[in-house]
This record gives sequence, structure tokens and C-alpha cells, in this order.
Amino acid sequence: MSYIIAPSILSADLRYLEDQIQQAVDGGADWIHVDVMDGSFVPNITFGPNIVKAVRKVTQLPIDVHLMIVNPERHIDAFAEAGANHITVHYETCPHIQRTLESIRDLGVSPAIVINPGTPVSTLRELTHDFDKILIMTVNPGFGGQSFLPGMYDKIRRTKALLEETNSQATIQIDGGVDKDTIKACYQAGARNFVAGSAIFGHQAGIAAGITALHEALR
Ligand code: DX5
Ligand code: ZN
Repeated sequence: MSYIIAPSILSADLRYLEDQIQQAVDGGADWIHVDVMDGSFVPNITFGPNIVKAVRKVTQLPIDVHLMIVNPERHIDAFAEAGANHITVHYETCPHIQRTLESIRDLGVSPAIVINPGTPVSTLRELTHDFDKILIMTVNPGFGGQSFLPGMYDKIRRTKALLEETNSQATIQIDGGVDKDTIKACYQAGARNFVAGSAIFGHQAGIAAGITALHEALR
């Protein structure tokens, strides 16, 4: 079984960011997920490139930057320079999405696209060779700790079918409400990359235990 666990530092205790990331790394994290929110596309405001730069100083793990911002094309250079390995842009924020994905790749960063729960999978049909990863939001973006939307299981299945039909090698990532109760069905539906915030950083037995619980649920 091959998959990626990407802890989201949105749910980390920022007083101890270095230590919290180190615990995630020691606990078996594969990537570190950084949620960038602008208070415009989504209600919340979070991190900028400076946080990516700080995370890069703590770990050499791939940094996965999820841009929940308007006009993301204005900022991808700064995130690439800060150390992002993967940059994900929302379909809903990009009128020229193909160009935006291409410019991410031109910077030597792996391009990914993300769609909100209400955006149809069919929208991706023209693009399946332009991104390395498709992120299916399994909550409406903006906050950690929300409940998984059950309608998204079928959406993951339909995404997998579209990728197969169009001979795309892209992988499917999910983000929002991922925990020990939802992760297995998402894997069975075709997801291979799992972002989790509160299930990891909010686990009562600690960060490493949170990651272990997800591995165990996938067994
Ligand atoms: C939500 C963010 C997520 C968030 C997930 O808009 O994109 O990455 O951290 O948090 P949980 O896992 O708590 O739902
Ligand atoms: Zn995210």
C-alpha cells in the first residue's frame, strides 16, 4: 500500500512550530502541508511565504503549499523561492488556469489543482495532463476541524475514472475532515495523498500517535 500523509500545520500549536514539525517528521509524516488563506477567497487569514521559509529550515520533507488566495499567479514565485515543492491553486481563483499551472512547472515546482466541493469534476477534463496532483476538497476550505462531506467519496471515484479515461498519471489528494473514520473509504475510492490537520496535531496522545492512527486505519 503506497500513499502519502501530509500533516497540515494549520492545526499546529504555532508557539512551538519547530518542535511540532519535528514531531510530525519523527512520527512518519511524508510531506508538510501549508494552508495559505487570504481572508478574501476564504474567510480566514493564515500564512505567507515567510512561514514556508521557516518550515524549510526545520525539515527537508517536501512542502505542499495550498493557496486559498485570489490572484495566486502573483505569488507563486515567492512561494517557490521560499522552498515549496508542490503548489496547489484553486480552479475557482484562476481564469487562466492552464497558464498558471504551466508557470508553476516552469519554476521547477510540481503543479497541482484543487476544486471546492461544489465544483464539478468534469471541469478538469481539459487539464488532466497539466497537473501532477488533483486535490479534492472534502470540506469547504477556510478552517480546520470541519466534518468530512460524505458526498465526496463518490466524487473521488469519479475523479479516478476521469484520470484513467484520459491516461493521466496525476494522483488524487484529499483535504478536510480526514481522520481514522474517513481515510480508508477515501483510499478505496482512489485517493493516495491525505492532508490531515486536527486528526494529527489535535490527537490526544500526541502528534506521532495521530499519524500512527491514520496508518492503522488504512491497514
Ligand atoms: C482547510 C485546509 C485544510 C485543513 C484541514 O481549508 O485546506 O488543510 O488544515 O484540517 P482538518 O484535517 O482538521 O479538517
Ligand atoms: Zn489544505
